[in-house]
Order: sequence, then C-alpha cells, then structure tokens
Amino acid sequence: MDRRERLIARARQGYRMAYGAEPSRFFAAPGRVNLIGEHVDYNGGYVLPCAINRETVIALGPADKNDQGPFLDAVAIDMGSARSRVALDAAVAPGANSWENHVRGIVHAIRGLGQPVKPARIAIAGDIPIGAGLSSSASLGVVVATALSDYGGLSLGREALAQIAQAAENDFVGCACGIMDQMASACAVEGKALLLDCRSLEHMPIPIAPGLALMVIDSGIGRELATSAFNERRAQCEAAAQHCGVALLRDLDMDRLEAARGGLDEVLYRRARHVVSEIARVEPAAVALATGDTARLADVMAASHRSLREDYEVSLPALDQIVDLVADVLGTAGGVRLTGAGFGGCLVAVMAEEAAGAVSEAIERRYNRTASLPARAELLVPSAGAGPIRLV
Ligand code: GLA
Repeated sequence: MDRRERLIARARQGYRMAYGAEPSRFFAAPGRVNLIGEHVDYNGGYVLPCAINRETVIALGPADKNDQGPFLDAVAIDMGSARSRVALDAAVAPGANSWENHVRGIVHAIRGLGQPVKPARIAIAGDIPIGAGLSSSASLGVVVATALSDYGGLSLGREALAQIAQAAENDFVGCACGIMDQMASACAVEGKALLLDCRSLEHMPIPIAPGLALMVIDSGIGRELATSAFNERRAQCEAAAQHCGVALLRDLDMDRLEAARGGLDEVLYRRARHVVSEIARVEPAAVALATGDTARLADVMAASHRSLREDYEVSLPALDQIVDLVADVLGTAGGVRLTGAGFGGCLVAVMAEEAAGAVSEAIERRYNRTASLPARAELLVPSAGAGPIRLV
C-alpha cells in the first residue's frame, strides 16, 4: 500500500466505524509549500507555491435515510474521531472547535453563493502535519468544498472552490489568511509550481527544471502565536497601503514607497518594504526554477528570508540558525528560506538533487541528536490539485 492508499483505507475505515455503512466516493486536496512570495497574497501580489504529496482525503456517502432532517455529518478521524453535525435547513453559525468550523464555514460559503448543499456523511483523514505551515487547514477546506460541490452536482470551478475555502477560514475560523494556500491546493498541476497573481487569480504552472529537488525542513517549532501575529501583520499592511494612497501594497514599487514614506510609521514602512521587495523577487525565482539556475535561487531565497526576518519580523532565531546551516551547506547549489506564515513551522529549500544528501546529513547531525529541536528534512514531490479520487 502506498501513502495515498493508506489514507484512503483510513478514511474508509473511519467512515464505516462512524456510520456503519460504506462510503461511495473519495476526494483529496493537497497541502502546499510556498517557494517564494511570502506574506504577499493578501496584498494582491505574486506567489509561487507548489502542492505537495501530503493531503487530506474525504470518504463520502449519502445521508442516513432515517435522519429527521437534512444534515451534513462529519467525522474527523485524526481528531480522535470527533463528530460534527450541520443542520442544512437552518442558518449555520461557527461551532466550538477549529476543524468543525472549516466544515461549517464551507457550508455557509456555498450557500452564500446561492447554491444548495446536499445532505451527506463524510469522514476526513489526512497526513499533512497540523500546525507545521504546510496548509493542512487550506487542504481541509478545499477538500470539503470539492466533495460537496461534486456530490451536489454544483460544478463550481477550482478558483471558486479556493475562494469558498478562504471565506470559511476568514469568517468561521478567524484567520485573515489570503488566497494562496487554497489556490495551490485547488489549482496546482502535477510536477509543477504555480505562479499565481493573487489579485486577478490568474495562474500558470511553472516547470521545475530537471535535476532540482524540493526539500521541506520541519523546524519542530509549533506556531502558537501565528494567528494573532498574522492578523496583526495583515492589518499593518492595510494601514501602510492606506497611508500610501493605494488599495493594495501590490500597487507600489520601491520608488513610490520611498516617495510616500514621510509620516509613515517606521514599523509599517518596514512591513511595506518587505511586501514590495518580495513581490519583485517572485518572477526571477520562477525563471530560476524553470531554468535550474541554483545560484540565482540561492540569492533570491536568501534575500526573501532576510526580509522576512528583518522587515516583516516573522522568523525566530532557531529558524534562522537552520537557514544558516543549510545555506552554508548549499553555497550556490540552491536556496533556503522560511515558508508559510512563520513563527515556527517549516523551511523550504530548492536545490540541485546531488546536494540533498549533504543537507539532510547536516540537519540530522546538528538537530536530531539534540532533543530540544528535532528538525526533520524531507524531499517532496510537486503534486496535483484537489479532485475526486478514481479508485481502480
Ligand atoms: C499563511 C496564509 C497565506 C499566506 C501565508 C504567508 O499560509 O494562510 O494566505 O498569507 O501565510 O505567505
């Protein structure tokens, strides 16, 4: 059994245990790693994420015929098989816990588009580490939206599914996240990265040059403070944009930012400088990824990390140390940086395949023997976006 088959088996088994019936369909949505373009999605900029071979799977079947009303029933197998029931003939409000609110928020958002949600029972299982910055949340939202759309015959497009999942997270989970993670999970193409304009949602797959490897390094540091700090950063960006007289920081370049600097709070200035400089790094990084220019990747990813550390202040000394270690090993053979929201979580590295062994060994030597920081490196496969799983 491969990784996905094990996940499907777990979802099937969880469905049987919860409902005493067989599921009739399966759906999957991947997590993501962002290669560059960090904290720019909610500023309308460009990002370059990649869906990964870690995902959330749903087993789905019809509602119980004996039910007294139209319900969506859900069981979260990875949350101790916690159950949730959403009444589909009443207004949906947020419930008590986060996973359940992703489900409730999706129902709310689909109905907000004037579309019905067909009664069903679902079981959810995943293998994206939770809280590591690999978008387990976005993948949960996208897979629920995909399953309900497909089962209900709603035929919502991939962009719409991503927007529904983002709305659920914004309105029901309380995270003011942008659209990057959900778009990556919904729209990615196997073997490629996704260059996404977060304002227009236009996107195109970017090939990854043969001989390049993608590595994720989980720092092992949980991201407890991430949501409040994230929401604060977003508010700071909005305040900076307002000061500069633009709708989104995307509308600025360095010259315009400098020209508008007078009277702008120093912290807000640095937040804006990160966003403006980071957006400018995405295109060169996409070109370097497609052409296998590892020296260029080393430069732009180092500049991105520095900017996240100094201007955006979302790194931690422990993360910087891992970045320094990996950058030393890589030299011009690839780049490394913090990925995702920050304050812990994962680092991403893009490198010549031959360099991967030395990087893994360096991490292993330095971190795995000291129990206080058990960082782990793993190579990932760029994967396809969400959809039904066809069982053979
Ligand atoms: C989190 C959010 C995304 C994005 C990143 C930072 O993953 O969910 O929308 O803002 O952080 O780039």
